[in-house]
Amino acid sequence: MSKKQWTEWAWDAWCIASIIGIWPRYIEPRLLEVNRLSLPIAHLPAQLVGLNILHFSDLHWSAQFSFSLRKKLIRKINALKPDLILFTGDFLCRSQLEDREGLKNVLESLKATIGCFAVLGNHDYARFVTVNEQGDYDVEAPSSASNISKGFKRLFRQVSLTQQVTPQARQVDLHAELMALLKQTPFQILNNATKQIAYKGQRVNICGLGEYSLGRFNPEIAFKEYDERYPGIILSHNPDALEILKHYPGEIILSGHTHGGQVNLPIFWKRFTRIAHLQFKHGLKVIDKKWAYINRGISSVMKFRWFAAPELTLLTLQKG
Ligand SMILES: [Fe+2]
Repeated sequence: MSKKQWTEWAWDAWCIASIIGIWPRYIEPRLLEVNRLSLPIAHLPAQLVGLNILHFSDLHWSAQFSFSLRKKLIRKINALKPDLILFTGDFLCRSQLEDREGLKNVLESLKATIGCFAVLGNHDYARFVTVNEQGDYDVEAPSSASNISKGFKRLFRQVSLTQQVTPQARQVDLHAELMALLKQTPFQILNNATKQIAYKGQRVNICGLGEYSLGRFNPEIAFKEYDERYPGIILSHNPDALEILKHYPGEIILSGHTHGGQVNLPIFWKRFTRIAHLQFKHGLKVIDKKWAYINRGISSVMKFRWFAAPELTLLTLQKG
C-alpha cells in the first residue's frame, strides 16, 4: 500500500475543516428557531389568559446582517401575531450604528396588537462596554484588531468577572443617534421605567432596566411607577441582574446577552459567556416563584454559532 502524500493530507484536512466550518459560520447563524412556552401565572386575571408575548433579543444589527435572516425574522414574528413584542437589548454591534435605514425598516415591520417595548444592551450606549482583562466592566480600548482575533483572544484567556463597573464605563452616555432612530419605530425604550399597558380591560406592568454592565441598572427608579395590583413583565439585558430582580415585583423576567453560549461546546461556551451566574446561560428558569427566560438572541458580532441557533420565544400566559 502506497504512503499518503502531503497533498492528500492537505486535501483531507481541507474537507474536514470546511465541513466543520460551514455549519457554524454560514448555516446555523441564519436559522431561526421558534420556542413556544405556556407560562402558568398565579392569580392571573381571566382577561389576560392567552396573552401572547413575543420575546427576542440581541439583534446585533450591522451592514453585514444576513438578508435571509432579516426576511425570516420579520416573516416569522408577524406570522405568530403577537399581542406584545419585547426586545431585551443589543440592537447594535460595539456601539456602531450601520445601515440605519435597514434597522429602522426591520423594527417598523414588526407588528404587535398592543405594542413593542425594549431595553438597551451593553452594545447600545455611546461607547462599547465589555469585560476588561481584570474582569471589570470597562469601555473597550480602541483597537485595530478584527472581531475574529478578539474572539480567539477570548478563547485562550479566561477572565473571572468581578461585576465591578469602572468610572469610565459609568460615564458613557446614551447613543444619541440610536435613541433618535428608535423614536421613529414602534419600539418604546424602558430605561429604568415602568409602563402599564391595557388589554381587554385589564392592565400589565412592563418594567425595563438600564444596563447592568454600565452601572445603569437602577430598580429603585425602574419600579417607582409599578402598580402591584397588576401582573408584570420585567426586561433586563444581562441575566446576572436576575439575582437582584427576584427581590422586586413581577411574574416574568426576560433577558438575553448570553447568546445561549454562542459556541455552545464544552469549555468553549464558558469563554464566550461573560456572566457571573453561568446557570443563566439560556432557557426557562424558576427564581423564587418567578419565571425567567434567557433568550439566545438573533445575531452576534462574530457571525458564528454552534448549538446555539438564533431564537424567537412566544410566551403565552395561562392561569396558574
Ligand atoms: Fe449580545
